[in-house]
Amino acid sequence: MFQWNERYEIGQPIIDTEHRELFAMLSRIGEDIAQDEESSDELEGALDGLLQYAEKHFHDEEQLMVEQGVDPRHLKLQQMEHQSFFYDIERLRSLTADEPMERRYERLLQFVTNWLVFHTLRTDQQLGIQLKALAAGSSAADAYDQAEQATFSVTLYRPIVQALTHLWSDAMERIHMLERRLENAEK
Ligand SMILES: [Fe+2]
Repeated sequence: MFQWNERYEIGQPIIDTEHRELFAMLSRIGEDIAQDEESSDELEGALDGLLQYAEKHFHDEEQLMVEQGVDPRHLKLQQMEHQSFFYDIERLRSLTADEPMERRYERLLQFVTNWLVFHTLRTDQQLGIQLKALAAGSSAADAYDQAEQATFSVTLYRPIVQALTHLWSDAMERIHMLERRLENAEK
């Protein structure tokens, strides 16, 4: 399981606390799956709880961006990523409906973890850079450019690449599943 680390913080107490809570919820669900004691309904409920918290968190994040006057290009990117999260997770939920319970929840949990690692360590880090630049007096456009030009430290780079690799494998697996379904439907 992915372990949250204070080096992943972006320097905004509300956002950092919510990020930490999201990963704590993920590891609690991971432990439930590993212990094999939860029913499908209980795991489904835990996943719903996590998605509800993610929705509240994304809302808080977007509100902060508007309040702080973050460049609209970044706000738009965040909104798109936040929306695609719910779309992708619902697609994966229906695609894995017939899989054995443990395999299904492991896949769902892995997807949510990798998605959140990639988003919080890349996109939200860029947000953190912009908020600091804005607080220091930069214009929104300058703050945006600073975030675009920033290079990531090894501390962030490693988990970002790992998460991306997993997300990519998962996307390939989904494509192959869909191809097989299509082939069967054509027969
Ligand atoms: Fe975000």
